[in-house]
Amino acid sequence: CGIIGYVGDQSALDVALGGLRRLEYRGYDSSGVAVVGAGALRTVRRAGKLANLEKLLSEGPERDPMPGTTGMGHTRWATHGGPTDQNAHPHTDCTGAIAVIHNGIIENFAALRAELEGIGHELTSETDTEVVAHLLEVELGNAAAAQAGAVPEDVAPGGPAASGAAGVPVAQHPLTAALRRVCRRLEGAFTLVVLHRDFPEVVLGARRNSPLVVGIGQGETFLASDVSAFIAHTREAMEIGQDQIVEARRDGVTVTDFAGEIVEGRRYHVDWDASAAEKGGYPYFMLKEINEQPTALADTLRGRLSADGAIVLDEERLSAQDFRDVDKVFIVACGTAYHAGLIAKYAVEHWTRLPCEVEMASEFRYRDPVLDRSTLVIAISQSGETLDTLMAVKHAREQKARVLAICNTNGSTIPRESDAVLYTRCGPEVGVASTKTFLGQVAACLLVGLYLAQVRGVLYGDEVAAYVERLQRMPDLVGRTLHRLEPIRELARGLADAKAVLFLGRHVGYPVALEGALKLKELAYMHAEGFPAGELKHGPIALIEPGLPVIVVVPSPRGRAHLHGKVVSNIQEVRARGARTIVIAEDGDVAVEPYADHLIRVPATSSLFAPLVTTLPLQVFACELALARGLDVDQPRNLAKSVTVE
Ligand code: G6P
Repeated sequence: CGIIGYVGDQSALDVALGGLRRLEYRGYDSSGVAVVGAGALRTVRRAGKLANLEKLLSEGPERDPMPGTTGMGHTRWATHGGPTDQNAHPHTDCTGAIAVIHNGIIENFAALRAELEGIGHELTSETDTEVVAHLLEVELGNAAAAQAGAVPEDVAPGGPAASGAAGVPVAQHPLTAALRRVCRRLEGAFTLVVLHRDFPEVVLGARRNSPLVVGIGQGETFLASDVSAFIAHTREAMEIGQDQIVEARRDGVTVTDFAGEIVEGRRYHVDWDASAAEKGGYPYFMLKEINEQPTALADTLRGRLSADGAIVLDEERLSAQDFRDVDKVFIVACGTAYHAGLIAKYAVEHWTRLPCEVEMASEFRYRDPVLDRSTLVIAISQSGETLDTLMAVKHAREQKARVLAICNTNGSTIPRESDAVLYTRCGPEVGVASTKTFLGQVAACLLVGLYLAQVRGVLYGDEVAAYVERLQRMPDLVGRTLHRLEPIRELARGLADAKAVLFLGRHVGYPVALEGALKLKELAYMHAEGFPAGELKHGPIALIEPGLPVIVVVPSPRGRAHLHGKVVSNIQEVRARGARTIVIAEDGDVAVEPYADHLIRVPATSSLFAPLVTTLPLQVFACELALARGLDVDQPRNLAKSVTVE
């Protein structure tokens, strides 16, 4: 799940291990490194945490240092085959000259494996990755034979490589040519990084539907699954597009497509530095990121209103007319981002009067949704690499829908595959469970809702400006809320042994309840469910038993008086059946007091913006409870920060 490749003049092992440490947050269950130097290729890999690998390198039979300035490292999140030493990457070919690391899933690996075994290759792992090392061995062998027999080298199984007018055919490194031929045979999603014992001058990367970014340093080049892996060395980065291969050398890179034509990679400067990806005095990234929420929100909202009162997106490849033509909105996302989408639905429908559906990205394309040119699909993704979301985006565009991405990662795939982008400027989020980017996503969605309402003429400029100004006051309110959450921390510590917790809410409080439950599952491994408070009586109320903690997110008694009364009744219903009620209510809401076993106060705000504050006690609750259970809140078990498999 984490990849780093290096060619330069530093110790490749040090660079690889440093990069892997910075990528640890992505979630993994084994790791490995490979270095080319002194005429040898050495690989070391180990199941479990990076510390196991480092231990092996420093004191095990692998005491030999790994000399060399060309190398790579990998952290694996198991898909094909369990998290064992044998399945850990890098994987090598029969000769031990080629090493490969991989993210993603090669869907036709079984057929490729059978083919390789048929010609005498012995594969030693259960992974899909290993076939790539062996295919490369075959291709390099064929190329050498072809050169001897003068048969054209770069011929794909399907025929000669294309060479259009736009591209320039180039003389390729033999390893690059071989990798290209292999890539053309692979189905599925992959980022590959490849090393060869006899070619210490290059490290190669290839990608399809899986992340890969290049770091350009002075006399050194990096390949990585995200910029945090090399940010300590350089902030100059280059995007690698779909179906492209990058040949990295000390002095630069050559990028080609799978047909062998040169393509221009887009270069960009990373505007945060290494310290942004460090804990800054907090014991956990998650605690730091929870506390960064006022800044993350303020940065996301900054400069969004132009002088003439129009809302500013980041990259808009759609005309105002395209937005005017929209007659339906779909929001697609996964996990926490999906909950941000559920919140957005209330605002989008209220402000724009357009129907808005929210769907988990993994379900979206498989049910044949009704999409056409006037459908706007909003894809929300912190990483910009979640494969389920990416596939939903591709499906939507195939059906001619317009796609707007809300994303936190500049240079990632989803924004590039979309028609327009609005970045959440939250800075790097390292904790696997999203916190600050959730707030950024909610804010960005609200901006998109206002933007749509504005271009469609449903809201006037001054109304939109008034909303944006109120939104811009939210970071301050978020900061003040964070300062008063000690009571929920204390409560969480006292509930460390609870068996389950229920979360209830109505209107935007319902997705907040879902998010509170998800956080508790992710961090504390506790059974937690979120329900619409009104739905409780239709089934889930059977779960209530004496002492069960039930957290209720209460809407404002001012903005939504009718709803408020109903939620107060729902609190009474669960309390009458013995539940221990934990009530999140705004300042001044006295009606809830008689029914709250524990009352957590948040500042009053308007209904549609309330999730920006009501989510905070739930994040803190889950985090504190998990810590009380002795768990690592940054790297919960079984989870990955960015899931690049479907
Ligand atoms: C993973 C993470 C979740 C996250 C989801 C969507 O499952 O563990 O915390 O919400 O992916 O990620 P994205 O990067 O698309 O927002």
